[in-house]
Amino acid sequence: MGDARFVRTGMNRFGSIQGFMIILFGAQKGGTGKSTLAQNVAVALARDGRDVVLLDTDVQGTTAKWMARRRSIETVKSIHCLQARGNLIDPVRDLAARYGDVVIDVCGADREELRTGMLIADQLVVPVQPSQADLDGDAAHW
Ligand SMILES: Nc1ncnc2c1ncn2[C@@H]1O[C@H](COP(=O)(O)OP(=O)(O)OP(=O)(O)O)[C@@H](O)[C@H]1O
Ligand SMILES: [Mg+2]
Repeated sequence: MGDARFVRTGMNRFGSIQGFMIILFGAQKGGTGKSTLAQNVAVALARDGRDVVLLDTDVQGTTAKWMARRRSIETVKSIHCLQARGNLIDPVRDLAARYGDVVIDVCGADREELRTGMLIADQLVVPVQPSQADLDGDAAHW
C-alpha cells in the first residue's frame, strides 16, 4: 500500500468517491448479487467518465460472459474487462497503475481471490439477501 494513489482514495463526507478506487464485491455466500452489482457499478462509473476496468475472478466467468454479450451491442460504451485467478494482489496493483477504478467480482466462497482481494481493495461490498439462511451463511465469515 505504499503507492500514494491508494492513500488518496476514500469516500468523502457526502458519500461520493474521491480519487481512484479498488472496489471488491465479495461474500462467502453464493448468488447474493455480487456480479450484478459489480457490473452495474462499473457501468455507472464509466458513464461518469471514469477510467474503469472490471476484473472477473470467478471460475464461472459470469461477468466476462456478460461483458462479451454487452460488447456485441454497438450503442453501449465499451468497458475494459479482464479475468484473473488466485492471488489478486499483483494483478490488481498492476491494473490500478494502468487504469483508474478497478471493480472486482469474486465467486461466493472462501477462496484465495476473496482473501487477497480484501487485502488490496479500498472498499469491500458484501451483498446479503434478506433471509436468515443468507445471514447465517455470511455471519459465520464476517
Ligand atoms: N437486485 C436484484 N434484484 C433481483 N434479482 C437480482 C438482483 N441482483 C441480482 N439478481 C439476480 O440474482 C441472481 C444472482 O445474481 P448474481 O449472479 O449477481 O449473484 P452472485 O453473488 O454473483 O452469484 P455467484 O455467487 O454465483 O457468483 C441472478 O439471477 C441475478 O439476475
Ligand atoms: Mg457472481
